[in-house]
Amino acid sequence: MKIKSAEFVVSNSDVAKCPKSRLPEYAFIGRSNVGKSSLINMLTNRKSLAKTSGKPGKTQLINHFLINKNWHLVDLPGYGYARVSKSSKKVFQKFITQYFALREQLVTAFVLVDIRHKPQPIDLEFMQWLGEHGIPFSIIFTKADKLKPNAIEKHTMDYKSILLEFWEDMPNYFITSSSKNIGKEQLLTYIDSLNNNMLISND
Ligand code: GTP
Ligand code: MG
Repeated sequence: MKIKSAEFVVSNSDVAKCPKSRLPEYAFIGRSNVGKSSLINMLTNRKSLAKTSGKPGKTQLINHFLINKNWHLVDLPGYGYARVSKSSKKVFQKFITQYFALREQLVTAFVLVDIRHKPQPIDLEFMQWLGEHGIPFSIIFTKADKLKPNAIEKHTMDYKSILLEFWEDMPNYFITSSSKNIGKEQLLTYIDSLNNNMLISND
């Protein structure tokens, strides 16, 4: 899929104020600093459509971006950022949870995990929560530029074996690097195929 246009639509902390249109949407979620906002910029060929930072906790709201005038990408705050105060963590958690529980337009969630790290309980728990709520998700491994190919293979396989303790099948997964433009075509092709399925099932 070619990206012909990518526009910021709205930011807010209230799922009721998200765009009312029924356009299919895809949300990026994961720990703070994992690379959610950077991935949105890579996919849309923009340097700073979504705001990024070396410091965790940059994205604090639900951000909608309209792509090719017919689907939305959603950038969300990260979870698990220790330096956010307990009370603001709770507020984040509440609106993130509400977003996933209430947003009917969501076609699939993408859970981002840093390919360098071992599976973390917070990510596994979040995937479990999505599963319990019947929300489809795929995994996006980020920062693949930081590892050599054989380490990428090993870390992916390790992740797979842990997930298979909880899940019957390994969810779809993608290996990406926003700084090296890795995984872009695969992700866009996947989103395109889901968009096309939506059109067929809505007929
Ligand atoms: P929050 O909004 O704080 O939750 O973070 P985020 O998940 O949106 O992360 P963001 O995209 O802001 O990136 C965090 C840091 O990781 C930045 O310094 C990015 O430059 C860096 N980063 C993101 N993606 C990659 C990648 O693929 N490779 C490398 N090497 N660095 C990356
Ligand atoms: Mg961000």
